[in-house]
Order: sequence, then structure tokens, then C-alpha cells
Amino acid sequence: MVFYFTGTGNSRYAASIISRITGDELVSMNEVIRQRITDPYVARYAFSSDRPYVFVSPTHCWHLPRVVEQFIRDSRFTGSRQAYFYLTCGDSTGDAARGAQELCREVELEFMGLSSSVMPENYIALFTVPSLDDAQGMIRAATAPIESAARLIDIGKPIEDTNGGSPLGVLGSRFNPLFYKLFVKDKKFRASDACTACGLCERLCPVANISLEEGRPRWHGHCVHCMACISACPQNAIEYGLNSKGQRRYYLSAEGRQKEG
Ligand SMILES: Cc1cc2nc3c(=O)[nH]c(=O)nc-3n(C[C@H](O)[C@H](O)[C@H](O)COP(=O)(O)O)c2cc1C
Repeated sequence: MVFYFTGTGNSRYAASIISRITGDELVSMNEVIRQRITDPYVARYAFSSDRPYVFVSPTHCWHLPRVVEQFIRDSRFTGSRQAYFYLTCGDSTGDAARGAQELCREVELEFMGLSSSVMPENYIALFTVPSLDDAQGMIRAATAPIESAARLIDIGKPIEDTNGGSPLGVLGSRFNPLFYKLFVKDKKFRASDACTACGLCERLCPVANISLEEGRPRWHGHCVHCMACISACPQNAIEYGLNSKGQRRYYLSAEGRQKEG
């Protein structure tokens, strides 16, 4: 079973390739998490498979995103005990492999390794996203390592990371708790007059943190900084303070096409 969490499509892209090669079912953590929040009476966190569990997600502050860690902690996995991790990242997964290994120990899954691909940076709230052409090159370059990892997963071999463990990334990962405390907030999101109240931001938010009120999105204080709302908005009507002003938005569709406008 191949689970993916995604903000802007990179990890969905990687997960789709892994699922195609292994023949394993693709499950969107975004949808499951959202359903769980909006309908807490439905037990959607029990999964059963005789094949390994594969978790695909972005890297957030040199670790697995907290929302993914929480998903794994809150879920019950029966059948296979093996867990693989595939991360997409802007440049480094830092200490994510060690964190994933610790998490596996905690939830009694067997850690089979973490591997990763560098893909277009999506953190428009703090950084710059690559141009359309640069992003296209990165997506192309990321495909072969994803396919190689998928073949190893398919035959039950361990996988290893080539984008992690650098001294800067490992050092940076210590900043993770402070990062969530200081930066992962939604007060700076605003919709401009270009907003048409189409509701895509509301529907895409994996943690149901957005609602349309008087024709404009409102953020409710439990954002996980996935960047889906600001990046997918068809009108580019969402800004994050001054950081996003004048920047293009990066978003990769389920069909593997970049948003152009
Ligand atoms: C909140 C946040 C934190 C991030 N932290 C890192 C990081 O520590 N290292 C890195 O290489 N990329 C980092 N990135 C970039 C993403 O991991 C990368 O663009 C990823 O491919 C996005 O995947 P997605 O499209 O599936 O959400 C971060 C992005 C966000 C939004």
C-alpha cells in the first residue's frame, strides 16, 4: 500500500510511479486525514496489506512533516510490518531517515529504509520557487531515482538515502520544533480581490483549515504549511505576507503537468 501526503503534487507524482511499478494500491493521506477531521466518527485509520507499507511525503524542516508522523501514529497497520519511506525535497532530507527509523520503532513497524529525490522547491512562504523550465528539468531528473527505489521496494530490498545526512541538514533538523512554533502559522495568508470564491483552496486543504466566508477563504489557525492553497489557486489570488508577491506558483497536477499561469 503506497500512502502519499502532498502540498503541491511532487510527492503524489513520486507515489504514483512507485504504485505503478509495485502494483500496490495508492492511498492519499490528504484525503484520509481530511475525512478523519471532518467526520471523526468514521474509523478510517485501519489498514491491512500483506505487501509493505510505503509512505511518500515532502520533507518539512529536514524531517517527515508532523502531520505525516501523526497519521502513522494514529493508524493501525495489519498484515505486513515493513515500512518504506520515500521523500521529495528541495535539496536535502537532513535527519529525516533517523526520525523515520525512530518512529518505526515507536509504532512497531520494521524500517526498510528511506530514499529521496530532489524536486522543485514549493515553500513559497519563505523561499523562491524555480522557473517553469527549471522545475521541468528537476521533475525529469527525479524520475529515474524514484523508479529505482520502486524496483527495490517491489522485491523487498532495503533502500537508502542519497540526499540526507549532510552536517547542515542534520544540524538544521534540530531547529524543527522551533520551526513549527515560530513559522508554521496561517496569519499571513490573505486572498486578494482576484479571488473568485471557487473554493479550490477549501477543498484542497488536507487539514480542513480553510472555509469560505462571505466569498473569501478564511484560515482557522491549524495550518500545516503544505502550500496547497496558495500554490494551486487558479487566480493566484492568495498571498503569504510580502514573501509570495510577484512570485510564480509551482503546482504539479495529478496528471504530472505544471500549472502554467
Ligand atoms: C514547510 C516546508 C518545509 C520544507 N522543508 C524542507 C527541508 O527541510 N528540506 C528540503 O530540501 N526541502 C524542504 N521543503 C521543500 C519540499 O520538501 C519540496 O518542495 C517537496 O518536494 C514538496 O512536495 P509536495 O509537492 O509533495 O508537497 C519544505 C517545504 C515546505 C512547504
